[in-house]
Amino acid sequence: MALITWSNMLSTGIDEQDAQHKKLIELINQLNDAMQAGHGTDVLGKVLSELVNYTVFHFGYEEKLMDQYGYADSPTHKAEHVKFVQTVGDFKKKFDSGNAVVSVEIMNFLRDWLTNHIMKTDKKLGQTLGTLGVK
Ligand SMILES: [Fe+2]
Ligand SMILES: [Fe+2]
Repeated sequence: MALITWSNMLSTGIDEQDAQHKKLIELINQLNDAMQAGHGTDVLGKVLSELVNYTVFHFGYEEKLMDQYGYADSPTHKAEHVKFVQTVGDFKKKFDSGNAVVSVEIMNFLRDWLTNHIMKTDKKLGQTLGTLGVK
């Protein structure tokens, strides 16, 4: 069963941003499925890398928009991104060195962080961009 299910409640109103969030959700679900299926560190590590890389790409996309439109809340939004990348990066380092495993707790953290961030912080950005004519 999928850990996160996309719904309109997660829509920011910006098509590309929504598409990228759907991709992030897909990767988190993939990681969760691989964990549930008992796959080894090779498979989990591959999905985890993809998730980290795509997260960095996605945050870059949002931050470019913030800069482009002079978004006032950009410092707090970017700080949330930085903290998350640090946390997930630290986890990946531990995982790669054999000192951490993908657990239910980690998966719940990823789910909660992403859905909260989208619902609050990303939606606020999307709404502001929407008023500026971005779709
Ligand atoms: Fe986002
Ligand atoms: Fe964001």
